[in-house]
Amino acid sequence: MAQETPRLSVRALSKSFGTVTVLDAVSLDAERGRVTSIIGSSGSGKSTFLRCLNLLETPDSGEVLIDGEPVRFELRGGRLKVSREIQALRASLPMVFQSFNLWRHMTALDNVAAAPIHVLGRPRKEARAQAADLLARVGLADRADHYPHQLSGGQQQRAAIARALAMTPKVLLFDEPTSALDPELVGEVLKVIEGLAEAGDTMILVTHEMGFARNVSDQVVLLDQGRIAEAGPPAQVFDAPRTQRAAQFLASVM
Ligand SMILES: Nc1ncnc2c1ncn2[C@@H]1O[C@H](COP(=O)(O)OP(=O)(O)OP(=O)(O)O)[C@@H](O)[C@H]1O
Ligand SMILES: [Mg+2]
Repeated sequence: MAQETPRLSVRALSKSFGTVTVLDAVSLDAERGRVTSIIGSSGSGKSTFLRCLNLLETPDSGEVLIDGEPVRFELRGGRLKVSREIQALRASLPMVFQSFNLWRHMTALDNVAAAPIHVLGRPRKEARAQAADLLARVGLADRADHYPHQLSGGQQQRAAIARALAMTPKVLLFDEPTSALDPELVGEVLKVIEGLAEAGDTMILVTHEMGFARNVSDQVVLLDQGRIAEAGPPAQVFDAPRTQRAAQFLASVM
């Protein structure tokens, strides 16, 4: 049987800042409906990797393919030319950040409905109805009219997840979505992410929560100084790492 085209393929992606190589020929495939966790020490290039996927950073070389189609971009005077295609790409690969960055002057519902209305051109009524459904999905049905400052950190992050889902993403990108939360609020956000995994959303998740990465992931990728030091199913990476670097890293965090 022919193999399914991966939802996202990354081929030999490299990125330097000045003379520092931050990503060095990183390749990986994210299959549809699967969860990829990226782990690694601070500065190993995890955030830069995610940011290169939706062109918040422009890769120096290599390729990103979505459903087999290469992502193309143009530079003007060294800067990314943000075309309609780039906006569509970012909409299809939304990122949930450590700091929830909701719009402060908008209710939870408006935060979720805004981009579908303004970026995707959806009718207002439809977008708001969808936003209400998504808020319910992340357990915030009763918080739709609250402003961010009236929500706890965990609730804000769940609203941020609903906002990402509103774009009907091809891949959801998470960059340490729980690391700015008080410990007692981490669980509620992880539970929402786990629910998305069960529902078959394709996700790439940068996380320091090793137990969670082990439980929720189909594959785990360890980045070390911009290179993949180890990649495979969680049981392999966590229980029987093949490289000394992986064994060292895991010993230091587990
Ligand atoms: N815009 C930038 N300009 C210059 N250097 C950068 C820039 N962004 C990141 N770097 C450098 O690239 C390296 C990788 O950074 P990155 O943020 O990707 O690491 P990370 O693995 O996400 O780390 P952390 O776990 O601390 O979030 C670091 O050395 C960082 O200082
Ligand atoms: Mg980071």
